[in-house]
Amino acid sequence: MKLRLAIVDDEKIVCKNLGKNLQKNGFIVETFQTGASFLKRMEKNPFDLVFLDILLPDMNGMSVLSEIKAKRNNSEIIMMTGFSAIGSAVEAVKKGAFHYIAKPFRLEEIISLANRVQEKIYKRENPLSGNNLGDDLLDKEFIGASRAMQEIFAMIKKVAPIDCNVLLQGETGTGKELVAKSIHRLSKRKNKPFVSFNCGGFTDELICNELFGHEKGAYTGASLKKIGLLESAAKGTVFLDEIGEMPLSMQVKFLRVLQEKRILRVGGTEPVDLDIRIIAATNKDLKYACVNGNFREDLFFRLNVVSFSLPTLCSRKEDIPVLVNFFIDKYNNAFGKNIKNISSECFDILVKYNFPGNVRELENIIQRAVVLADKDIIDIDDFPPDLQKLEFDTLVGGGIFTMEEMEKNHIEKILKITKNNKGLASKILNIPRTTLWRKMKKFELN
Ligand SMILES: Nc1ncnc2c1ncn2[C@@H]1O[C@H](COP(=O)(O)OP(=O)(O)OP(=O)(O)O)[C@@H](O)[C@H]1O
Ligand SMILES: [Mg+2]
Repeated sequence: MKLRLAIVDDEKIVCKNLGKNLQKNGFIVETFQTGASFLKRMEKNPFDLVFLDILLPDMNGMSVLSEIKAKRNNSEIIMMTGFSAIGSAVEAVKKGAFHYIAKPFRLEEIISLANRVQEKIYKRENPLSGNNLGDDLLDKEFIGASRAMQEIFAMIKKVAPIDCNVLLQGETGTGKELVAKSIHRLSKRKNKPFVSFNCGGFTDELICNELFGHEKGAYTGASLKKIGLLESAAKGTVFLDEIGEMPLSMQVKFLRVLQEKRILRVGGTEPVDLDIRIIAATNKDLKYACVNGNFREDLFFRLNVVSFSLPTLCSRKEDIPVLVNFFIDKYNNAFGKNIKNISSECFDILVKYNFPGNVRELENIIQRAVVLADKDIIDIDDFPPDLQKLEFDTLVGGGIFTMEEMEKNHIEKILKITKNNKGLASKILNIPRTTLWRKMKKFELN
């Protein structure tokens, strides 16, 4: 199956390079420099996939998107935007774009997106073609558009069927537990239990009791036999959170369990065989803890057969729009609301904010806003006060900007003052009109 693909971008060089490379990868490609010429062609012969620039000389990419969607011809759309205008990406995804990509992009990103669309179309046309549970789960519950997250998803799919121990490292709220659950649900253990245990804040005895269980009469008060967590997870997966907090003496015992694959209940004499997969997580640097003597190196190597390092949200801001949409939908459903979007000021704040609590914090912000919003768009008043203050800091000039952002903001301000009179604006800015036009295009200022 060869996909028919359109590239709509007024920059000839983009069309040419991209077109050539996509053709080399087996796609049939046509290129268009204006929205109108593309729409005319599409009337006759719809495309499977359209790479669509947001800023076109004759019309706005968003309205081209709406027209394609109105035709209901199953075309998938990938918007191309400058990073500075990533806000419009939220709107694009809401309006039904498959994805968006920030310029400048890497060729491999485009090819990989085109391949994903190909896969999606193939599945749509061949619904019985094998088990796509994995993609469903990763598409619908575990969200990420960034390259970093795509790599994590690929790793999950690769590692899930192999029955090895996994170590997950990453700051709080980056999705470690979600990775653990995804691995479990994509593994052959999926119909068996997934059991979580947090190793933080327990003494050795308590952890032993919880993990290994005890025999009747093991100690005063143990009037009944208790099955431990490891045993109760039979043939399933055990998720050990905050493994870095496990006391050293407990680490020795736990290592022995991993090696021998059996346990002794506290007070017991008959070993019980274990068939479990261990996924451990930590927000500490375990290697460093090993060097400092706070974590046993032999246990580290046992757990670290495969390791994932989850990226912070700040390092993958491209994920913010898709996550925002996902959480709006999630909490619309939970609270019976019908919020459609967030305002662009809110979005700007999210892009600037540094998210110490990562995705969990973003989820909380959106959840709260969905509850509070009285209109169908989340507004700045629906954000927590300290985030609103961030907006204020930005307005009064207290924000931290790159030179490019300063330039963009300044041009935007002058265009506002001149009511979009480009001749006047270029005079005030003392640059040629063509330069102003180029910069407006680059920064996606309409
Ligand atoms: N990529 C994502 N897509 C959708 N939801 C996400 C994503 N990442 C995290 N979340 C949500 O954010 C919250 C925190 O995620 P999770 O509990 O997996 O983080 P964690 O790394 O285990 O954090 P901690 O170290 O604090 O335990 C959860 O509600 C989870 O569903
Ligand atoms: Mg967690």
